[in-house]
Amino acid sequence: MESPDQATRRGFLGSLGATAVLARQRSAAPVRVGVVGGGFGSSFQWHLHPNAKVAAVCDIRPDRLQRLSEVYRCGIAYKNFRELLKQPELDAIAVFTPAPLHVWMATEAMKAGKHVISAVPAGISIEECERLLECVKSTGMKYMMAETSYYRPEIMTCVEWAREGRFGTIFYSEAEYHHEGLLPLMYDDRGFPTWRYGFPPMLYPTHSVGMIVPVTGERLAEVQAVGWGDGHEILQTNQYKNPFWNTTGFFKTSGGHSSRVSVFWHVAAGGTERAQFYGSRLSYIMERPEGSPNTVIRIARDGKTVIDANGYPEGDVAIEAFKQPDHFEKLPAPLRVNTGHGNSHTFITHEFVSAILEDRQPAVNAWEAIAYTVPGIVAHQSALRGGEPMKIKDYGKPPA
Ligand SMILES: NC(=O)c1ccc[n+]([C@@H]2O[C@H](COP(=O)([O-])OP(=O)(O)OC[C@H]3O[C@@H](n4cnc5c(N)ncnc54)[C@H](O)[C@@H]3O)[C@@H](O)[C@H]2O)c1
Repeated sequence: MESPDQATRRGFLGSLGATAVLARQRSAAPVRVGVVGGGFGSSFQWHLHPNAKVAAVCDIRPDRLQRLSEVYRCGIAYKNFRELLKQPELDAIAVFTPAPLHVWMATEAMKAGKHVISAVPAGISIEECERLLECVKSTGMKYMMAETSYYRPEIMTCVEWAREGRFGTIFYSEAEYHHEGLLPLMYDDRGFPTWRYGFPPMLYPTHSVGMIVPVTGERLAEVQAVGWGDGHEILQTNQYKNPFWNTTGFFKTSGGHSSRVSVFWHVAAGGTERAQFYGSRLSYIMERPEGSPNTVIRIARDGKTVIDANGYPEGDVAIEAFKQPDHFEKLPAPLRVNTGHGNSHTFITHEFVSAILEDRQPAVNAWEAIAYTVPGIVAHQSALRGGEPMKIKDYGKPPA
């Protein structure tokens, strides 16, 4: 529900060209954010941003509520999400609760006249994702998914290079999210199952797909996926009826190219969140856990290629360990601090605040968020059907 104040303001602005007026109003005042969920949700920089402040926090757990209050220096604390939404001065809600709650909380917040930033994934079913998109369209509120992979420095560089055409054609891309060590998080302090208990790996595809889609500029259009499980008790008793620890999907992109995504919870390879993009002129290989650095490989043909004794071109490619810039110059000075997931958190913070102030769609808006989420949901279905090839619907892009 909108507060009477907001409804009046919206009606008035609607007749005067809401966007320009609201943008001007907002540029003078900080964006007031209400944060719900005090685990991962306490690791963003709303309190450091020159144009934002945390105006309320919310969690059902007292210890997490206290953490949120301390980190964001905010004394207005709610246990109840619905009470949080009633606070009229909030412009936006940051949803950092368990994945099965994201769509419900995001849509309730948007219907209450708040912009939303939500932790990944956007939703956990196709029906949920479609409901989210419909809500963004009908309310006109801003929605952003807090995809950390999108703001990894390597991905920011690759997106720039792809836009400049430096890769040539990216005909193959590959991304993986390997999170060995998830098992303890499947239980709470009392030993009860958490939302992560048996969570299907491909319902958590965004850290991988959220690298491939932005860099290639293509959507994932078809998939064939294979899952692996070992019949463990967790895989037999979880609420999602998920039999897999690990799933790998082979995708065809909307441009007819190939792409591989793997999401593993149980793997003797440690944790990785990395990608590689193979192009006709340039390839970028993100660093590997066994120690190879970020590597760029360029075609270095100069018309004088020498053929070696085995008949292979010599000096045909230039391979270099790439010194990856951090892109901190894109941030306001107070946000140039080290954060989690490849320093992505400050970039996410800044993009959401900027999108509200500039009255534009955030980079990872609802259409993008769904394009990073739905391919995994369909991949999980494919894996459950023994690797059946399946089509993935394209939900398009935001209206210009
Ligand atoms: N790299 C990333 O993008 C990244 C990393 C970690 C977590 N996440 C995502 O962030 C979200 C939160 O992850 P987490 O590790 O903090 O999980 P978590 O389960 O530790 O924390 C969730 C918090 O939400 C609170 N909560 C649950 N129901 C609530 C309700 N109805 N009202 C208010 N508070 C409620 C819980 O008490 C808890 O403090 C998840 O969706 C996860 O997928 C993303």
